[in-house]
Amino acid sequence: MVKSIAVIGGGTMGSGIALTAATHGLTATVVDVSAEQLEKAQLYHKKQTKKAVSKERITQQEADVTIENLHYTCSMKDASEANWVVEAATENIDVKKNIFKQMHQSFGENVILATNTSSISITDLASSIPEAADRVIGMHFFNPVPVMKLVEVINGRDTSEETTEATIRFAEAIGKTPVTANDFAGFVSNRVLMPMINEAFHAWNDGVAGPEQIDSIMKLGCAFPMGPLRLADYIGLDVCRDIMMVMYNGLAENPKYLPNQKLVDLVNAGKLGDKSGQGVYSYE
Ligand code: NAI
Repeated sequence: MVKSIAVIGGGTMGSGIALTAATHGLTATVVDVSAEQLEKAQLYHKKQTKKAVSKERITQQEADVTIENLHYTCSMKDASEANWVVEAATENIDVKKNIFKQMHQSFGENVILATNTSSISITDLASSIPEAADRVIGMHFFNPVPVMKLVEVINGRDTSEETTEATIRFAEAIGKTPVTANDFAGFVSNRVLMPMINEAFHAWNDGVAGPEQIDSIMKLGCAFPMGPLRLADYIGLDVCRDIMMVMYNGLAENPKYLPNQKLVDLVNAGKLGDKSGQGVYSYE
């Protein structure tokens, strides 16, 4: 049984994965190269548990246990006792391949090395550690992790059956519903979602309508909980651009996957959405 996990990358997703594990009684160590990001993650955990107590979803004692379960470090070695790892760092193949090599060196030889990548091929990532490719698997959580039920589970070419079965059990143990998909760039969720978000940028760029109108039309007309441009800000515009590029490169350079220029311009201007205070909309 998994008792402790390490989460590599303490941004939007990593901090959510760690919190979810901690609320299910696991010890969770967040590892990030940025000390500032670790402080933000810790603050987020404190705020979320406080909010859960005030809404009477958990008791103060449960909140205290959750906070005690959470640890933060800039060094992967400090987390090496963990018996499950989820990589949730920046969506960049070189960054992730380096992290996988470090993970392979730092954690025990039976530990499953999962990645929360939203688009990069699992087989490609596993190629960085061929001797442990049977323990590499995609475990794609959704944002906000404590709320969203789905975990998309993706096998790489050499992922073992034991790894898949253990991943399904682990996802269920932390309250999630695992659904399997095959190893294509973007898997199912982003193969369908991201072109829609990108198309909303095209519509805005072409002058079909402004962001508010596009979002209202999609919310009211398609019963979406939020419009595609609002969702892009929530996901992170840099993450959206990166996912589009992974699909462009991974799906035969089909130009339909090229990110819209307006999206690229906002990212280049540092307007990344909620996390930077400004994106399509302003959050200041
Ligand atoms: P983010 O930008 O909020 O966080 C990424 C974190 O990784 C940063 O804190 C950064 O300092 C850290 N990092 C970078 N290099 C590192 C290294 N070598 N070692 C340790 N930490 C490192 O990004 P976000 O949104 O949390 O995304 C993380 C992963 O989750 C990406 O692969 C993304 O595609 C995926 N994802 C994102 C979703 C979203 O809605 N934002 C949804 C599902 C998956």
